[in-house]
Amino acid sequence: MGDPALGDTELLSSAEGVVMIIGAPDSGKTTLARKLADAALQDGRTVAYIDSDLACTTVGPPTCVGLKWLRSPADMADLTQADDLRFVGSIRPDRFILQQVAGVASLVETARTEADLIVIDTSGTVSGVVGQRLKYHKAELVRPDTVWAVQRGGELEPLVGLLRRFLSANVVTVAANRGGLPMSPEERVDVRAARFAAAFPAPLQRWRVLPTVFAPSLPAGFDLVRLHRMIVGVHDRQGRCLCLGMLEYDEVLRVITSGNQGMAGLQIGSVRLDPETFRTTSVRLNELMFGLG
Ligand SMILES: Nc1ncnc2c1ncn2[C@@H]1O[C@H](COP(=O)(O)OP(=O)(O)OP(=O)(O)O)[C@@H](O)[C@H]1O
Ligand SMILES: [Mg+2]
Repeated sequence: MGDPALGDTELLSSAEGVVMIIGAPDSGKTTLARKLADAALQDGRTVAYIDSDLACTTVGPPTCVGLKWLRSPADMADLTQADDLRFVGSIRPDRFILQQVAGVASLVETARTEADLIVIDTSGTVSGVVGQRLKYHKAELVRPDTVWAVQRGGELEPLVGLLRRFLSANVVTVAANRGGLPMSPEERVDVRAARFAAAFPAPLQRWRVLPTVFAPSLPAGFDLVRLHRMIVGVHDRQGRCLCLGMLEYDEVLRVITSGNQGMAGLQIGSVRLDPETFRTTSVRLNELMFGLG
């Protein structure tokens, strides 16, 4: 028997508690997340929409997981401005599993206080060792009431089996999008560049930074020029990422941000950003800091 389609409104309205959505790239995860959020809002419920996709994000900038509070159907019009962020520092979901899982768990914990429904949209990394580990440990920490698996033809069965066997997860499978064209890699790069550009709106500010404000901390004798154009998470003292910053070295080290209210420290990411094109280059922090592979 086939999986039910996404248009089943009764099924959508039945979602409650913490709902985690999994599926391959372009399967319709974000579309389903929006539908679930909308159905709950129509019923007068408060929704926390958590976006853990790092590359083509809906909420907040790339390299971060973000939370958006939705209190009325009108709030669905723009999901891009995050109310809360956790910095992961990469656009590669296959690396940085710890940071992703910790960030999402922290946002879910925050959301539990107020939300009637918490919807977690995720990246399309669902296969192989990395995909299974990422989703398994996310579910382990987040303890979803329901996992919604959006699949085309049984491709999620290994992951679904694992979530059921080891976590007794309650999994609902739904039929994936068979219509719309998948986004090409070039389109994904363009979407990401636009989202990075939106994270650095004019007028930008430049703040001189001390080498002692970083996490991870810089080794003795570190040449600060190596941080030029690296992305950082601008952090407060409560583990929250306030916004993204970009480092600039020109005899002194500065951070370029849209604001520094409450800035306590800077988390170094693993991405260099071109300020003209907003295209990224991946950086290995071990190599950057210690010259190690
Ligand atoms: N049930 C559906 N029927 C027809 N088209 C759909 C359906 N669900 C999604 N789409 C279309 O498919 C495309 C991909 O959908 P969506 O962005 O929701 O997928 P995704 O799994 O979140 O993708 P990504 O891996 O990029 O996060 C979009 O163009 C969307 O409009
Ligand atoms: Mg998506």
